[in-house]
Amino acid sequence: MPSEKEFVLGTHDQEIARLAVQHRAWRPRALAAWQSAGIGPSQTVLDVGCGPGYASLDLAEAVGPQGRVVAIDKSERFLKAFEEARRDNIATYCADLENGEFPQIRAHAVWCRWVLCFVKNPRDVLANMLATRRPGSHDRRGFLAGLEIIARRTEAL
Ligand SMILES: C[S@@+](CC[C@H](N)C(=O)[O-])C[C@H]1O[C@@H](n2cnc3c(N)ncnc32)[C@H](O)[C@@H]1O
Repeated sequence: MPSEKEFVLGTHDQEIARLAVQHRAWRPRALAAWQSAGIGPSQTVLDVGCGPGYASLDLAEAVGPQGRVVAIDKSERFLKAFEEARRDNIATYCADLENGEFPQIRAHAVWCRWVLCFVKNPRDVLANMLATRRPGSHDRRGFLAGLEIIARRTEAL
C-alpha cells in the first residue's frame, strides 16, 4: 500500500527515470520560460512539487551561487533522490501542498510544473505561491513562471 505521502504515479525508481526523460524532452521550453520570466542570477526561486529535482538543478544554475532554489515536495523519497547531485544553493522542504503546508519565504519567482493537476485545491496552492512574492518582483503572471493550465481548472488563475 502506498504511504499517504506518496505521489499517485509512485515514487519508485522507474517513476524517477520517467520524470528524467520527461524533463529532458521539455527542458528547452523550461529554460526559455525562465528566461522570458526574467529568472536569473541572485534570485530566490521556488520549485513547487519539484519531484526528484531535475528542474531544481537547472534552476540552481540559472540563479547561480548567490541565488537560492527552494525545492518543495511531499515525497521524501523524491527529495532524497537528488541529494547527491544537489548544489549548495538548493534547499529542500518537505510539505503536503494540499494541507496548506508552505515555506514562509519571499521569492522572486515560482516554478510549478505538472503538479496542480494532482491537488484537490489548486486555488489555495496558487494563493500560497502568490503570498511568497517579494515586493517589487515580477507582476502576478510573470511571478508564476511555469504553471500548467489544465482546461477545467483555468478559473483558478
Ligand atoms: C508529475 S510530478 C512533476 C515533478 C516536477 N515538477 C517535474 O517537473 O518533473 C508531480 C509532483 O508533484 C508532487 N505532488 C503531488 N501532490 C503534492 C502535494 N499535495 N504536495 C506536495 N507535492 C505534491 C509529487 O510528489 C510529484 O513530485
